[in-house]
Amino acid sequence: EKGGYPTFMEKEIHDQPHAVADTLLGRTDDAGRLVLDEVRISEEQLRAVERITIVACGTAAYAGMVAKYAIEHWTRIPVEVSLAHEFRYCDPIVDGTTLVVSISQSGETMDTLMAVKHAAELGAMTLSICNTHGSTIPRESDAVLYTHAGPEIAVASTKAFLAQITASYVLGLYLAQLRGETYADDAKSVMAELQGIPDKIDELLGRMDRVVEMASFMADTRSVLFLGRNVGYPVAMEGALKLKELAYIHAEGFAAGELKHGPIALIDAGQPVFIVVPSPEAPHELHKKVVSNIQEIRARGARTIVIAHDGDDDVEPFANEVIRIPNCSPMLAPLLAVVPLQVFALHLSTAKGLDVDQPRNLAKSVTVE
Ligand code: F6R
Repeated sequence: EKGGYPTFMEKEIHDQPHAVADTLLGRTDDAGRLVLDEVRISEEQLRAVERITIVACGTAAYAGMVAKYAIEHWTRIPVEVSLAHEFRYCDPIVDGTTLVVSISQSGETMDTLMAVKHAAELGAMTLSICNTHGSTIPRESDAVLYTHAGPEIAVASTKAFLAQITASYVLGLYLAQLRGETYADDAKSVMAELQGIPDKIDELLGRMDRVVEMASFMADTRSVLFLGRNVGYPVAMEGALKLKELAYIHAEGFAAGELKHGPIALIDAGQPVFIVVPSPEAPHELHKKVVSNIQEIRARGARTIVIAHDGDDDVEPFANEVIRIPNCSPMLAPLLAVVPLQVFALHLSTAKGLDVDQPRNLAKSVTVE
């Protein structure tokens, strides 16, 4: 059942091209419109959405952060991401024009369920992005968009994360199209590019030898930092979470721009830092800005492990290690950039002799508040 892999997590990491492809499958009708699985929200109501609040926990919340960038960019609808356990107790500003989108692999996370119920009580429309058919959260929601990642057995989430991001993109493009926003013309080309992502993940998984080797050298590491910017920021957060969960190593993810506002004080000789570099095509010179962050921390002795697109030579002078990912549009890069971080955490855990599939103190689905 592990498909020849030693652990469920390794199998699930290798399932990711399928998780993305299956989540895209049959999503659009001939007119290019998204097909939601079960909807009790009319197109008219969706056109009237004035704000979106995403509620989720853990890895699913990081998928939600990626979703925020994509949905706001494509629809111009303001999107807020709220940790589900905070949402319910912060007197949230939600009404009949708010679409509350929950993201949950299991569909049973109590914190997320309570947030959805609270949103419904306040009159919001609720849409669930979920991986588990017939689970509680989709049943309690007005609309469902299932991720088709297949059952995720390893406690730490991997393929569900990629599927959640994929479903979020589809939702954003659908809303853009439905509302006739300016970006909608490009929805088809983004969908076409998304269709090509599974092959790129596959290719990337074939390039992981050096990442595996690095993990095996780093079993004694006490702390690892992760930096990213824009959609790379949630990727950095997810890389840190995977390392905490699987290898019990202190890890922190930061927005790269925040570095000079404090965290740079943590950098000393030999400190390993992963940096998720935006595509050179990213707007607002973000690429250049992140490259200069790498330069700054390298000058302070950090060991820089850089995740950069193929052909991005600007990172070379400041990188101790470069992990290459295939080229894609800046917005879609999380689907690729997170993969080496998952592989790194998996192999560091293995190098420490830990139980990759069942990390201590964790349960696959957190059914208490
Ligand atoms: C991390 C992880 C957790 C879950 C979180 C939400 O690897 O698995 O952070 O993402 O507990 O779970 P779901 O998605 O089932 O609501």
